[in-house]
Amino acid sequence: MPVIRRRGWELPEHLATPEHLFLDRRAFVTAAAGIAAGSLVPDLALAQRVTDAPDPTANLYPAKRNEKFALDRPVTDEKINGNYNNFYEYGTSKNIASAAQALKTRPWTIKIDGMVEKPMELGIDDLVRKIPIEERLYRHRCVERWSMAIPWSGFPFAKLVELAKPLSSAKYVRMETFLDKSMAPGQRSLSYYPWPYVEGLSMAEATNELAFLVTGAYGKPIAKAHGAPLRLAVPWKYGFKSIKSIVKFSFTDKQPKGLWEELQASEYGFWANVNPQVPHPRWSQAIEELIGTNERRPTLLFNGYGDYVADMYKGLEKERLWA
Ligand code: MTE
Repeated sequence: MPVIRRRGWELPEHLATPEHLFLDRRAFVTAAAGIAAGSLVPDLALAQRVTDAPDPTANLYPAKRNEKFALDRPVTDEKINGNYNNFYEYGTSKNIASAAQALKTRPWTIKIDGMVEKPMELGIDDLVRKIPIEERLYRHRCVERWSMAIPWSGFPFAKLVELAKPLSSAKYVRMETFLDKSMAPGQRSLSYYPWPYVEGLSMAEATNELAFLVTGAYGKPIAKAHGAPLRLAVPWKYGFKSIKSIVKFSFTDKQPKGLWEELQASEYGFWANVNPQVPHPRWSQAIEELIGTNERRPTLLFNGYGDYVADMYKGLEKERLWA
């Protein structure tokens, strides 16, 4: 069966346009797609009918900022950021914020299993209350060449690892997004995608100081479009590694295969560290555009976080570290 593998960002180099032009074109494309592909268009009436219980952790925000993680650029405007997302469970355009309202975030159970002392299941609110949260300003570089800067709130991944008590034989953490076709139109219409969305980290990466599990943004619980109620932020890697709406952490000795690697291994791999000198097979990664501005900047090795992470990759030079 032929597999259609071209995604929104997979434009030939010569078609890549500045953000403002892209936004205009996207508005047109989205309108056209709405006529042609009804199944991907959010059922707004349905989205509005789905109501969540109020977030019982809302009083934890805004969390105290950890000043260690400073930015070299302004925080991206919340409105721009909240309306320019990749969340394929809700469609292939960037305008998924209203479709994502169909995501029901309570009750939400997190499963921890695999090579751990004692597998467990716990509700998101128990998890968030167990571990103190803090705010961190992080950059985010998408493989599509756009970037943003965001005040995430959450807790270090290392704290979840502590809670999970993995066996010494565990080498990786595999993470999984929810699978529920009734609340994710993309899981119905993109039927050739290997749902659910999966991503993984090595144990060294998961316990690196920078790896952050996100429960909030902009001083409040995280918006659905950003992957409520729990997502990953690994800012030295391309954005597709930062899996959204996580329901499962499995500790394993096998390197996990993410959804994009499963779909197109020639272009997307396990490590996916940012490196401006290693182009994507079909476009350069040297420059990025800050969403919501016309500003373009040179992309930095490890997205500028080399001091924290470069040591982890010593001895792995033969691996494909940059896809
Ligand atoms: N997680 C899930 N479950 N589904 C997705 O489609 N997209 C990834 C990542 N995590 C994605 C996901 C990609 S390609 C990027 S760039 C970031 O989420 C986008 O995060 P943002 O929408 O908060 O900017």
